[in-house]
Amino acid sequence: MDPYLQTARVTLRPFGADDADLLVELDSDPEVVRYLSGGAPTAPEVVRDQILPSVRAGYDRWGGRFGLFAADETASGEFLGWFCLRPERDGPLDHVELGYRLRRAAWGRGIATEVADALLTKAFTELDVRVVWGATMALNRGSQRVMEKVGMTVTQTLETPEDMLAVEGADLGGFQYEITRDQWKERGALPS
Ligand SMILES: CC(C)(COP(=O)(O)OP(=O)(O)OC[C@H]1O[C@@H](n2cnc3c(N)ncnc32)[C@H](O)[C@@H]1OP(=O)(O)O)[C@@H](O)C(=O)NCCC(=O)NCCS
Repeated sequence: MDPYLQTARVTLRPFGADDADLLVELDSDPEVVRYLSGGAPTAPEVVRDQILPSVRAGYDRWGGRFGLFAADETASGEFLGWFCLRPERDGPLDHVELGYRLRRAAWGRGIATEVADALLTKAFTELDVRVVWGATMALNRGSQRVMEKVGMTVTQTLETPEDMLAVEGADLGGFQYEITRDQWKERGALPS
């Protein structure tokens, strides 16, 4: 299957039906899911029976234009985690969410910034997107820095959703970040 996106170091590709173990392992690291579930792993049967089928249904729903994609290191083929670029389920196709989740071994190498930047380019030059947004908890400084580095800015503060009230820092809420196509054009290329 053709890659969805390639950057200097990373290839994004659709998840296959046999990739459940990659997602199970990713979500089994308490540090990776610290600001998502409070550190609790996602049950393997939930990944197999709900999450992976839903991710794969998205490829059909959006004709491969949007979705949640596996990130592999191109040189080694090693699984790094995932990135998503997708509208809300029945939302407008020009208003899409950016998201990312990487294995701990991949952190701190500029991978999230590299791929997020390439996803913005794809969104605004190929996919007719008008706004890219992302949401993060107030304590998740790493996630915020990725969005700040690619030129996104805070547009609103968020209350923590009911199902995340047990997560560390839930009382501090979160932030929604956005960038419009016009802001992205004004931003220009990131310094290399
Ligand atoms: C958030 C995440 C994707 C960042 O990935 P990454 O590849 O390590 O990020 P980068 O290397 O591109 O770093 C981007 C910037 O964030 C900073 N950063 C990364 N992690 C950080 C942390 N924990 N605290 C503070 N800053 C951090 C980096 O220093 C860099 O900024 P700088 O260039 O000014 O130094 C990764 O930590 C992750 O997968 N976390 C778990 C899942 C998650 O929280 N996803 C987001 C949910 S909203």
